Amino acid sequence: MTQDIASLVDADRGLIGRRIYIEPEIYEQEQERIFARCWLFLCHESQIPQPGDFFTTYMGEDPVLVVRDTTGQVRAFLNVCRHRGNRLCRADAGNAATFTCAYHGWTYRNDGRLVGVPWLNEAYYGELEREHWGLNPVAQLDNYKGLFFATFDPDAPPLREYLGEMTWYLDNFFDRREGGIEVIGGMHKWVMPCNWKFPAENFGGDSYHVQWSHLSAVKTNFSLGAATKPETSGSLVSPGNGHVLICFGPTDVADPPVPEILEYEKQIRPEGRKASGSPLGSDQPDRRNDLSQFLDAARHLPDLPRLAPARPRQDRGVVVGLHRQGRAAAHQGSDPAERGARLQPVRHL
Ligand code: FES
Repeated sequence: MTQDIASLVDADRGLIGRRIYIEPEIYEQEQERIFARCWLFLCHESQIPQPGDFFTTYMGEDPVLVVRDTTGQVRAFLNVCRHRGNRLCRADAGNAATFTCAYHGWTYRNDGRLVGVPWLNEAYYGELEREHWGLNPVAQLDNYKGLFFATFDPDAPPLREYLGEMTWYLDNFFDRREGGIEVIGGMHKWVMPCNWKFPAENFGGDSYHVQWSHLSAVKTNFSLGAATKPETSGSLVSPGNGHVLICFGPTDVADPPVPEILEYEKQIRPEGRKASGSPLGSDQPDRRNDLSQFLDAARHLPDLPRLAPARPRQDRGVVVGLHRQGRAAAHQGSDPAERGARLQPVRHL
């Protein structure tokens, strides 16, 4: 089967076999070799800022509960009751000191300890050792720039080593603003009855469909540039360890596209750069381009310019979003006048 799978992907010609989306054996191997071994993203620290805050997600097919315990330590567990395997927490997010299973009422503290078992003496004759029946933690949990990742593999390399040179790009985004980055606005979720690679590929890299599938939205001018038309200056950076960064057009590093950052990008990407070429303007039609060359050049450039503080805040149901070049985004407020009044002044550093 290993030989067979290799023949389904032709990286040189950019072709893949349809069987990768439908074969159960391939799916099972992915669960075992990818989702059971890799570091997987859980959530951002701003989604669980207070003691007791929790967030539920998945690692592969396994439900996971991420929680900041009462002492402030972040933990991650299989979101499964140790009694008969019932799903423990059914909320997307919230705040709780304890979690009580809806089936027979076993109760766990937010640090994973089993602290309550109904009929402990009558049903278990007082012999159940609760200290051995706490929630199952993930094998490793760590965070990088506020991004929490976990793995089920105790032998996986440390997170920083696993991320490798992709940290340069994460730094570029997450160190961009004074005050850091904060997730706001809750979540949108879809259940898609398809192989996991379809949405992964589409969310990751398919902007080609936008002008056709979302024509009515395009007509409103909701977006300009790469989202609605092909860009000749994009690139796809892969350090060769499974991570990838897809860049569109001249503002892919600059968000918002302020003059200082555009100038910075110009230094990184001199004139003469070819479509689909490397970020340094190489003539090589290399979509897996020379990352080390890119990084070497970038290291000799000044630090990315700092922008205005952009600590968004939530105030009585009005979300004040990221401050961008004199614009502030507000969502979800009921009264437009009130919304406007709550916007914070923007100060450029
Ligand atoms: Fe959770 Fe029984 S399955 S208490």
